[in-house]
Amino acid sequence: MTEAILLVGGKGTRLRPLTVRTPKPMVPAAGVPFLTHQLARARAAGVEHIVLATSYLAEVFEPHFGDGSSLGLHLEYVTEDEPLGTGGAIRNVASRLRSAPDDPVLVFNGDILTGLDIRALVATHRSSGADVSLHLTRVTDPRAYGLVPTDASGRVRAFLEKPQTPEEIVTDQINAGAYVFRRSVVDSIPVGRPVSVERETFPDLLAAGAHLQGMVDSTYWLDLGTPQAFVRGSADLVLGRVPSPAVPGRRGDSLVLPTASVAPGAKLTAGTVVGRGATVGEGARVLGSTILADAVVEPNAVITDSLVGAGARVGARSVLTGAVIGDGATVGPDNELRDGVRVWCDARIPGASLRFSSDR
Ligand code: GTP
Repeated sequence: MTEAILLVGGKGTRLRPLTVRTPKPMVPAAGVPFLTHQLARARAAGVEHIVLATSYLAEVFEPHFGDGSSLGLHLEYVTEDEPLGTGGAIRNVASRLRSAPDDPVLVFNGDILTGLDIRALVATHRSSGADVSLHLTRVTDPRAYGLVPTDASGRVRAFLEKPQTPEEIVTDQINAGAYVFRRSVVDSIPVGRPVSVERETFPDLLAAGAHLQGMVDSTYWLDLGTPQAFVRGSADLVLGRVPSPAVPGRRGDSLVLPTASVAPGAKLTAGTVVGRGATVGEGARVLGSTILADAVVEPNAVITDSLVGAGARVGARSVLTGAVIGDGATVGPDNELRDGVRVWCDARIPGASLRFSSDR
């Protein structure tokens, strides 16, 4: 049996009440809480036991996922008193693991959407005899990431901090947030204090001569760090660009959840999701966007690559592009909101207040 640890704590996943009230791992992507995709993908790869390591609000996960049996999993939850960092969180759940010292233990960052072949990562780990194996992905602009150069056999040579100069960009490979640890390596992480795997555990292991193996591939990979990325990921799940057994319905141009109401003349394309109880009016066009539960899109609105929060309202003829509308907010008719704008939860923008287009 393979088991896994899913990291869903830390600063990045805290409640962000300004736009979406739901904690990030529970925001619906393609109709179900994002975490469901990770759990279902792990199950499909043969994982049966998963420990959710969280540093806050375990009470939002457990009522929803319970013991995991509805997903064919055995789920356990461990909450840190204070965030322990990635390595500390892994160490903190060691007592829940059932693996023998040499067995592989999978670890997943909770905010990554990927088509990773999990079985292949475990197979690489076994065949290389590594202490830790890491999924690496290539990015076009590596400046925002720590770099992980490998040698010709895939063995990791270093963990480099974010490059500051062009000379420091020695590879386009970055840590993709999925690992296989030899169980005994988990037990060797210091107890009871914050530890970062990238900044402490992995570099220390390398310095001590341990074998860290990289597996580079070109599969789908997306860091869901921003609402825009989240919308992109949700659309890609609907379009089938990234496989997940948890998408409720067939792959296609759009996903309309039960109890949502879409007017016959509305057009939903590019992976749009319309959540439960939401309404899309006549003549509205919604492209590559996520409309959360109970939101209302009035007639002839045009919404592209945007997130419309739960219970929010977008007025008639309003145009949103790359916008995030907070839960419960109202954007009145005839507004135009563009790239990166975020409307706070429950805010009200009166009709015909904002536009970007010229006077012509
Ligand atoms: P450190 O390496 O520990 O400094 O974390 P980081 O800030 O580099 O990690 P990042 O923010 O990239 O998060 C990676 C994953 O680990 C995400 O899924 C986070 O939710 C999770 N995570 C980060 N910090 C913690 C933590 O303190 N506790 C738990 N349980 N999970 C964490």
